[in-house]
Amino acid sequence: MNTSLKAVKISEKIYWVGAVDWSMRNFHGYETSRGTSYNAYLILDEKVTLIDTVKAPFKDELLKRIASVVNPAKIDIIVSSHVEPDHSSALPFVVEYARNAEIITSQPNGLKGLTARYGHLNYKPVKAGDSISIGERTLQFLPTPMLHWPDSMVTFCPEEKIIFSNDAFGQHLATSMRFDDENDLNTTLFEAKKYYANILMPFGKQALTALSALGGHEIKMIATGHGVIWRKNIDTILDCYSEWASGDVKDRAVIVFDSMWGSTEIIAQTITEAFAKRGIPAAYYDIKSTPMSDIVTDVFTSKYLAVGSPTINNQMMPTIAAFLCYLKGLRPQNHKAFAFGSYGWGGQSVGLVEEELKAAGMEIILDKIRLANVPNYAQLNEITDHILKIDSEAEK
Ligand code: FEO
Repeated sequence: MNTSLKAVKISEKIYWVGAVDWSMRNFHGYETSRGTSYNAYLILDEKVTLIDTVKAPFKDELLKRIASVVNPAKIDIIVSSHVEPDHSSALPFVVEYARNAEIITSQPNGLKGLTARYGHLNYKPVKAGDSISIGERTLQFLPTPMLHWPDSMVTFCPEEKIIFSNDAFGQHLATSMRFDDENDLNTTLFEAKKYYANILMPFGKQALTALSALGGHEIKMIATGHGVIWRKNIDTILDCYSEWASGDVKDRAVIVFDSMWGSTEIIAQTITEAFAKRGIPAAYYDIKSTPMSDIVTDVFTSKYLAVGSPTINNQMMPTIAAFLCYLKGLRPQNHKAFAFGSYGWGGQSVGLVEEELKAAGMEIILDKIRLANVPNYAQLNEITDHILKIDSEAEK
């Protein structure tokens, strides 16, 4: 075990004791190009309290950081905000030291989830509005079901004005510096948006409810479950969450395609240029070159989406099928879309793409663009003409 691992003081008698996962690159399909962290917090009050644990392979890092300020056996209370194993799977190892610790979890779903995974431990289930005194401080519990699991919960400490937010407001971002003002803000906000798009997008309504519940509190710090802690740019991240949860989209187009021999690629280029000519910024993604999690981050706030695939064995390309499956699960809102692609003979792919776009809840604003073999100049000009009229056609 690395003996240089230390707790990081974030407030008087409150410490970050989590772990940094510098090498994580895939979080069940979400490409985490900047790694992540699993944040846990230790409060040294009359009752020593640990808020969350870490992913099990990082248990030694957690225990070492705790031990740098207090013997782990002295932990009286463990708050488990979320059952997902990146936050809870080190719990049984902590309990081996803190044998009498009371484990606070949401009722009923946190209790069910923890019991299913770790058996019968010393649980104390709480519900909305419950609070406990840990000495000089109080902890108030606010379950946030489906943000993003049924058991999810945040904890507010009114004396410190700190909200321990778990997944909410987090970012998959490995960094040696714990606070927002010690890191590049644009990078942190991009990762926060990517996190929201890939994990929280289906739960905008729940996010708005949680935000309104927080509205009554003065907040000095948002101690997240992943990435950096917000202390300087709290209003900025709260405003971003309000905007993201609202489902608002901007005048921007995202073009996503795969191509076999370059013809669908030529159509994608034409569509991209046409949007730009129309004055609408457009992003061009060859699905083979960009992770899906980055593409959906862009789709999330873009009004237009064009998806292209050639036909292979009467189907769309498996890469595009996977992208559309992933996107559909995230329940995107307020997008206008169309399908395109080239083909040799059958040409079924474009219709299949369009059906998936409809199934994802998108408004189809242009007839399928299906071109046989290699697109010619006249056909590409016709596509450009359609794109140039797209807003006026869509608004009729
Ligand atoms: Fe960070 Fe839903 O776990």
